[in-house]
Amino acid sequence: MKDPAGALDYSVGQKIVHWLMAILITLDLFVAQKFGNPLELADRLESRADHGSLGTIVAVLFVIRLYLRWRHGAPPLPGTMSPWQTTAARWGHGALYFLIGFLIFSGVATAVNATAPIPLFGSFDITLGQVDDTTFIFLRQFHEFATQAVIALVAIHVLAALYHWLIAGDDTTQKMLKFWSSRA
Ligand code: HEM
Repeated sequence: MKDPAGALDYSVGQKIVHWLMAILITLDLFVAQKFGNPLELADRLESRADHGSLGTIVAVLFVIRLYLRWRHGAPPLPGTMSPWQTTAARWGHGALYFLIGFLIFSGVATAVNATAPIPLFGSFDITLGQVDDTTFIFLRQFHEFATQAVIALVAIHVLAALYHWLIAGDDTTQKMLKFWSSRA
């Protein structure tokens, strides 16, 4: 294991997992968009299975990401950042990890309490066989809240990346954009 405090850049693996998660979470949001509206039951059940399967891939990537973060650490923030910006960046990144974990956890907790089967990848039903929807509906509120919170933080994250790139002119954003190489 490298000394996480001494990393100069993210590893290529960290960068690839970052972008794969960004793409898959966005795709999963598109699938989930329809859940808030009235839907034919067959469509809802099929979409739940698609949504849960994509979400499970995100969950696996999240575990890999945590492992890579532990193994490689993260490069230092630019020395030109003020103390409040450094503190905001640390808390913001920590909150993103926490909320994405909570998003996945609340999604799985909601899914296992559904009253109709949710076959992940077309085969593996993850439900516990509940017969009424009370717990499902209760837990879904937390999943919905986690989604709104992640969207808000991702919006701030993107604005901060644009600031580093276009205004501050440091290499923070380019490090993640050049996902095929690493100086770590
Ligand atoms: C990858 C990140 C995820 C995102 C961005 C996401 C987003 C959403 C959103 C926006 C909804 C609709 C909430 C509402 O309007 O009530 C939803 C519902 C749901 N999600 Fe997720 N979710 C994710 C992961 C997961 C995972 C990992 C699972 C389970 C394996 C899951 C299972 C469900 C279920 C069962 C519902 C309720 C469907 C329904 O109302 O019929 N989600 N999700």
